[in-house]
Amino acid sequence: MSNATASRNVHDDCSIHVDLREVIHALSDALDLVGIDDVAHGKRVGILAYHCALTRGQSRAQASFLFDLGLLHDIGVSSTRTHHHLVSEFDWAGSQQHCLTGAALLAGFSPLAAMAEPVRYHHTPWEKLVAMPGLSRDIAEQANLIYLVDRVDAMAAAFYSSGELLTHTPAIREQIAQRSGQHFAPQLVEVFLQASKAEAFWLQLEPRGIAGMLQDMRELSLPCQASTAQLKQLATLFSCIVDAKSPFTARHSQGVAGLSRWLAERLGLTPGRCDQLEIAALLHDLGKLRVPDEILEKPAGLTSRERSLINAHSFETYQILRHIRGFEEIACWAAYHHEEPDGHGYPFHLSADSMCIEARILRVADIFQALAQDRPYRAGLSADAVLATLQQLAAQQRIDPAILALAARDMAGAMAAALPAGKAA
Ligand SMILES: [Fe+2]
Ligand SMILES: [Fe+2]
Ligand SMILES: [Fe+2]
Repeated sequence: MSNATASRNVHDDCSIHVDLREVIHALSDALDLVGIDDVAHGKRVGILAYHCALTRGQSRAQASFLFDLGLLHDIGVSSTRTHHHLVSEFDWAGSQQHCLTGAALLAGFSPLAAMAEPVRYHHTPWEKLVAMPGLSRDIAEQANLIYLVDRVDAMAAAFYSSGELLTHTPAIREQIAQRSGQHFAPQLVEVFLQASKAEAFWLQLEPRGIAGMLQDMRELSLPCQASTAQLKQLATLFSCIVDAKSPFTARHSQGVAGLSRWLAERLGLTPGRCDQLEIAALLHDLGKLRVPDEILEKPAGLTSRERSLINAHSFETYQILRHIRGFEEIACWAAYHHEEPDGHGYPFHLSADSMCIEARILRVADIFQALAQDRPYRAGLSADAVLATLQQLAAQQRIDPAILALAARDMAGAMAAALPAGKAA
């Protein structure tokens, strides 16, 4: 227990001081990862919606809401296959599912609940929206503006890095104009045609333009301190997106969070520290959103290229979280979950000395949960089998033996913490 007990009293309690908008903006990076090589779809939709709103004479507050709505509109998409359909087909038959999933996720989190209905209808043609009793005009227009600029981005995406974007904009404008009154509200088509006359409207969608716009939005936004409860709720929401990516990982992140907290409490970490660790555990696999579905679902026989794509995921997690002020430690704990005490882990090759107690806990919890959980190709292992496998890893210096010893004292309790809703995935 030396490492674990030595660290027990080092950390004082600390509540988390974080701006909610900053967290939301950073987590929208995770959603954009589902595009694999094109990782700015949500941001471009947000920028386009923002400029259309200003062209229409809407207030900055309304335009900012539409910007955020653009960032998060695809919150129901975890799968790289789904993303591919959505950006390569104008009117994909399976598009409604991600609208429903996204709306349900947003409705459960009060700071973002106003986005639920627009997200629900962001692939519904205008002619259907106007026939829906009870749907407010404002929500119908918010949803339809996102639909319109989302389709613009899908058509333009192939040209952003080719230098040929401006050559293709007349054709894109024409395609949108042809759908006025059917897919899109005539008044929104008019606004889009007006705004998109300017070259700047399109050029801002290239990478440097996006970075500049994000900077502007950060400076414009008012501070909004997040409570710990809100951060946990938001982290849970994003863990659902990651875990929904594949039946192989159903509820994995929540189980890792449950077991991490269980271990941390037994090690005497303060409640504030336990909260931070729980958030780190919920977010530890965010970077997996960039791994193509077919690679994540492959049970064995990965090529070295496929293995390196998977191994990049914990660094992607780090990239997303490290810029959130107040999340510096959370970013590290989450990113270190594949580091091994003998220095052979990834992506930083840290040694045992440079891994803090929280990171070592999260590593044990991650492997423990994966072994105990049912997977489509095998049942979850029994407590004895989980312990035997982890003891082998500890003997090879791949996990911290002191933390494993703590779990070994009460395997029934550890199993219950790792599988909070029972074994069935
Ligand atoms: Fe989209
Ligand atoms: Fe991982
Ligand atoms: Fe994991």
